Parts: sequence; structure tokens; C-alpha cells
Amino acid sequence: EVRGIDELINGLVRDVPDYPKPGIVFKDITPLLADASAFARTIDALCAPWIDADPRVDKVVGIEARGFILAAPVALALGAGFVPVRKQGKLPGLTHSQTYALEYGQETLEIHQDAIAAGERVLVIDDVLATGGTVEATVGLIRAGGAEIVGVSVLLELGFLRGRERVAELAALRSLAQI
Ligand code: PRP
Repeated sequence: EVRGIDELINGLVRDVPDYPKPGIVFKDITPLLADASAFARTIDALCAPWIDADPRVDKVVGIEARGFILAAPVALALGAGFVPVRKQGKLPGLTHSQTYALEYGQETLEIHQDAIAAGERVLVIDDVLATGGTVEATVGLIRAGGAEIVGVSVLLELGFLRGRERVAELAALRSLAQI
């Protein structure tokens, strides 16, 4: 049986009710990551639009924490560098920083100022698009350094939170699955 990537993802991402706070249904991607063939298909699907891109993707940005797991293999497959966007205080060098409201709470994200050169072509990867605040802040951090964002790709888009409306005007957004 050959399933579409959207069906595969929706079948292997687990709902965890009331995590990390009451009323939030957490989307747990660990069952998908633990399935060798599903993980490989997911990475292939994230890479597919960019594999023959000319000019090529220079840097793949992964957003802490689960974005790292996906962005690193995508960077390798595309022959691009990997750049982490991290929570406040985790990066040792000079950083650009941006604070934003999250679905649950507030967050500050940082990027190393010298991680991406002006004019480089950047692909942004994360696991879940919820309200879009995390991606919006990440786009701001990357643009602050003068780089060009060629796209934003996520595994799963939570349509009911309308993150697409916030992100689509900033960058081309792709999601492999939607709920
Ligand atoms: C989750 C998820 C995205 C973000 C999406 O990360 O992995 O990065 O929230 O939410 P938004 O679209 O409403 O901004 P989380 O803050 O749980 O960080 P973690 O991966 O380090 O646990």
C-alpha cells in the first residue's frame, strides 16, 4: 500500500492532550522520526522542491528544537550549510534577537550574526506551523542579515490557528500535511 506523505505524517504524528499546558493538544513527531522509512520519505519530501534549484539553496535554517532534526538532513541532501535558530542564551557568539508571542507563552529566538552572508539563499524548516509566530520571528532574524528566504517548509500545518495568513505574505510556505 502506497500512502501519500500527508497521510503518512498524519498517521504517525501523535496527539498529546494537555501538554505542555491544559487545553493545548501537543503534536508529537517522535513516532514519525522513529519509523526509518517514514523519516526518509519525510526528508525526501522536504528536499524535493529544492534538489535541482538553480541557483542552489545556500543555507538551511532549523528552528529549535525539533526543526534541528529535520533541517540537518535536508541541508546535507541539498549540499547546503545548516544554521540553527535557538532560544535565548544558547548561542555563544554575537546574535540577532527577536521576541514574540507563542501559542503558549512568550519566546525569544536568536541567530548568529555571521551565520548567513548577505544575499545567500535560505530555506527555513520546522516541524509544526501553529500560530506562525515562530516562523515570523525567524524570517525577521534572517532578513536582518540581508539574506533571501526562498521558502519555509513544515511537516504539519495546524490550519485552525491560521498561521498561513501570517507567514504567506512573508515567504513561500509549504506544508507536507495539514489538519
Ligand atoms: C513549537 C513548534 C514550532 C512552534 C510553532 O516549538 O516546534 O517551532 O512551536 O508555534 P507557532 O507557529 O505558534 O509559533 P516549541 O516552542 O514547543 O519549541 P521546542 O521545539 O524547543 O519544544
